[in-house]
Formats: sequence, C-alpha cells, structure tokens
Amino acid sequence: PPMAKYVDDLSVPSTITSSPSEPIEIVARTTSSRFHRHQPKVPTMAYNDESYLGPTIEAHVGEQTTIEYRSELGKHIFAADLDTSLHGVTAKYRDTPVTSMHLHGGATPPEFDGNPERLMLPRHGTSMFKFPNRQEAGHLWYHDHAMAITRANVYAGLAGMYFLRDDYDTGTSTNPLGLPVGEHEVPLILQEKIFRDDGHQSLRSTPVVPEGLWEGGAVGDRGLVNGKVWPKTTVDRGLYRFRLINAASYSVWNLFFSNRMPFWVIGNEGGLLNAPVRTRSIKAAPAERFDLLVDFSALAPGETVDLCNDMAPPFQAAVLGEVAMPRFCRFIAGAGRGDRRGVPSRLRGAARQPDRLPPIAKPQKVRRVSVSQPYELRVPPAIMSLNNLRYADPQIEKPRQGTTERWDIVNITPDPHPVHLHLVMFRILGRRPLRTVDYQAAHPQPPIGTRWAPDPSGFYAGPMRSPAAWEAGWKDTVLAPGGHVTSIIVRFPTADELDFDPDAIFSSDPTQNWTRPSHGHAVRPSPSSMHGHHAGATPAHGMVTKDLQGYVWHCHILDHEDHDMMLRYRVVP
Ligand code: C2O
Ligand code: CU
Repeated sequence: PPMAKYVDDLSVPSTITSSPSEPIEIVARTTSSRFHRHQPKVPTMAYNDESYLGPTIEAHVGEQTTIEYRSELGKHIFAADLDTSLHGVTAKYRDTPVTSMHLHGGATPPEFDGNPERLMLPRHGTSMFKFPNRQEAGHLWYHDHAMAITRANVYAGLAGMYFLRDDYDTGTSTNPLGLPVGEHEVPLILQEKIFRDDGHQSLRSTPVVPEGLWEGGAVGDRGLVNGKVWPKTTVDRGLYRFRLINAASYSVWNLFFSNRMPFWVIGNEGGLLNAPVRTRSIKAAPAERFDLLVDFSALAPGETVDLCNDMAPPFQAAVLGEVAMPRFCRFIAGAGRGDRRGVPSRLRGAARQPDRLPPIAKPQKVRRVSVSQPYELRVPPAIMSLNNLRYADPQIEKPRQGTTERWDIVNITPDPHPVHLHLVMFRILGRRPLRTVDYQAAHPQPPIGTRWAPDPSGFYAGPMRSPAAWEAGWKDTVLAPGGHVTSIIVRFPTADELDFDPDAIFSSDPTQNWTRPSHGHAVRPSPSSMHGHHAGATPAHGMVTKDLQGYVWHCHILDHEDHDMMLRYRVVP
C-alpha cells in the first residue's frame, strides 16, 4: 500500500519524571502500532503503555533513578529472523525473547549497565536497575542490549529517551540558559524501516542472505520520526529545541532542512557545547544525539520546511532499488509566534553553566584498536569484528582508572562504523585518512581470534582533520569513517569519582531474576575454527566464567554489534 508523505501527525512519547524516592516501573511488552494511517496496526515491542518505543525518562543530576524492570514479552515479533548460529542465541528465544535494559550514556555500575549477558526472561520477576546520575546533564537513551538479538529488539521498538537535567538545563521556563521548554522542546527519534506488503515491519532488507540468517545491516526505505512514517507537525514561528537521535540500526544521515536554513547545535551526547554552533547540516550516525535549536520565526504562516537526508546507505541501497529516505518529517509554520527569546550567545561559562568544556587533555597512553571484517568471513556466513576478535575472546582492553588515553580506531573497512564505549564520555581528537591497502599488505590480518590492530604510522594518506564544531563536545559514540584512523581522548574515572567500583564482579544474585545466554550451542563453523584457532565448540570461545565483570564497547550498527563487533572491557584499579 502506498504511504503518502506528511499525512500523520508527529507524536511525542509520554514522559516519566524520576524521583529519588520512587522507583520507575519499566515493562517490555509485545503490542501493536500503526506506523502510518494507510497501514494496518502491526506487531511491535514497546516499553510501558507506548505502542512503539518507550516513555521519555526525565532524571536529575545527583538524584539516583531506580528502575524496576520486567518483561511481559510474548513470542518475538521477528522470531523467524533470529539467527541461532549467533553468540548464545537459541531457538527458545523465539517464544521467550530475552532482554537486557541498558542506559546508553550512563556512568552506571557494571551490574546495572545492561550487560548483554545479563538477560531477563519474560514473566520471570523484576530486576532492579540503579542509575546514579552522577554525571553532567545530557541526552541519554535507554534501549535493549540482549546478546546477539539487540538489533531485533530495538528495531521492534525497545528504545526510549532519557533526559538528564541539572540546575541550568532544567527543562522549565526559568532555565538560566533561556532554552525553549515544554511544547517547544521536542524529542526527534529518527529511524529507518522496511515494511512488508502486509504492513508488518521487516527486519530483512536484502534477498542476498537466506532468511533466518544474520544480514549485517537493517537498512530502511521509510523515514520514521517518533514511530511514525514521514509525519508532519505544525510549529509556532519561533525557536524550538529538538533533542535529535539517530536511533536506527544502520544508516548514517546527512541532515538538513529543505530550505537550507541554518540551525544551531548546542550539545552532544554528554552535555552542552560552550556556545551554539551555527550550521546548515549535521552528519548523524546510529546512537549519536544532537541538541539543536531551530528557529522558525522567519517562516510565513503555512510555509513548510522538511527535515531531509541526502546520504544514501551503502550497498543495500542498490538492492532496494530506491534511494532510501530522502526526507523524515515536515514542519508547517502555524499562526503562533512561539518562543522569541532568540539563540543564547553562550551556553557555558559566566553566569550560565559555570564549567566550560575543558581543553582536550593530553593522553598518558595510546591504545590502537581496529574495525574490520575478518578476511575469511566476508561473504555469508560473515562476521564483523573489533581488533579481529569475537565477543568472548579473552584479549580485552583494560584501561586504568584515573588515566587518560587516546584510542586510535583504525577502520580498514570501506564503511562508516559508529564506535561506542560504555561508562565514559570522550572527546574527538580527529580523523586521519589511511592507505588501507598498503597498511593491510604490510600487516596481514590473521584469522579471527588473534588480536590485530597494527600501527598505522607510515600509512597515512593525509593530515588529521579536526572534528566538526558540532561534534566537539562530550561524546559517547563517534563516527569512525571507512579507511580512516579516528582518534578520541577518553579519561577512565576512578572508583572514588564514580562512587562505585567500575571493575566489580557481579554474580548471579537470585533476587535479580536474571539469566545468562547458553554457551553450549553449536558455533557456525568458520575457516579459522577448522584451522584450529578455535575449538569452535563448547564452551564457546572461552566463555566459561560464571561471573560477569566490566563493560562493553562496540559498533552501534546494531547488526554489527550482534555479530560480533562488540568486545568487553574493564576499567582496572
Ligand atoms: Cu546504545 Cu552498548 O549501547
Ligand atoms: Cu559496524
């Protein structure tokens, strides 16, 4: 059925305000939603009473948020698409989908961090999460993180916004920054989807990979905002604050307005920039958030402006036969004059939020990591990897608490990968083009399972480019372009600063009702396992410890994270 553009109204998820004295109940449910008025209601997954996605949680710096999480999910709406050859996935997940709730961007104790192996079964009691909120105000989000089915759970709808407020970014009309609030502060959750002919969501986007097997990238040809396909909304002719997120699994977008009007970026994932940055476009990779000020005051009543993207997704676009998603949503100027206070000149310093962004720190250590597709597994059954390792391989990164490191992320693939570290916020130092062919020729990539992230010096194709001004703030996800070395500066906090032990071991507390994935599954045979680099059988890849420890870092293309572009890491004393 045809889906006309800009016929449905933009909706906004409901809000739950966190209070230190009362836990918030979050329930994952199987439900249904109408993504477009010309479509039937179709199965979705959502948190609480939303028909898709979850309520927005408003929390306050310094006040702990307690979540009582449980799952009432029925049969997985993408049961046929769960690939049981991936890490830990069993056929049982089709009827009883496991979940793991993660606060993305949170400095959270390891046991509450939504570890991909800390899984909840449906109708299996509740699990308590405590988010300390001892960090700067910012734009966080929560979403499912269950091992090797994250892509299916999030695509189905298990994601929501989490705004962390402080005494400057209060979210109320008296905020000292003069930022738009109330109906003039709007979350924009951007996603992409494919719909089947019967209107159901499709996790599959290519006929190339057989059904039921991991595909590597759920691209979409429909743009969604807050769970509606191509919605429209009437706006006051004044200033708006848009809290924008790329919550898609796959594509990177170049976002701009159809009339090419300028707008201002005022913050990244982990808080405000020093001053608003004026731009006419931003590049948004999966999991990146942008705090935007958009001024509609020059529009005439009735005039329209569309939020557009002109970056086509990589190879799948050809399969789709349509340049995906040229547009997301339409803003129609109304009669109201709205917020006319104007764009603030400063966001930090002076009478406003007193702490300016610090200068980029000098690293005490340089750590090289790699983003690659192991050469022997480039065609199905394919796999994506960090450091040429699988999730459970033991050679993990162990940065020290209290130290500042530079991570050089060497991406030898032709595609961009958004790299995300749990626990920390970092700054982007820059990106440097690499002669990948020469680099790989000089340092042949071993079979998967051997750590591989050789020194790129001598193989650069040009100087380092600084980050754009609109991505120069606190980040938890960085776009690492193909054929580039992307450098970030990250300080790993101490237990004292965090007020919890980031290296704590957490074991199976029975009151928490969680479970771990099974590791006795057959592992998809690979050339490397046949050559004896892996036992390739039980226990899978050394996954023998009973306890869990530490955090993860991964590519936020959810399909990649699931197989197996995610590694554990520990922040050691
Ligand atoms: Cu958005 Cu590991 O998370
Ligand atoms: Cu990736």
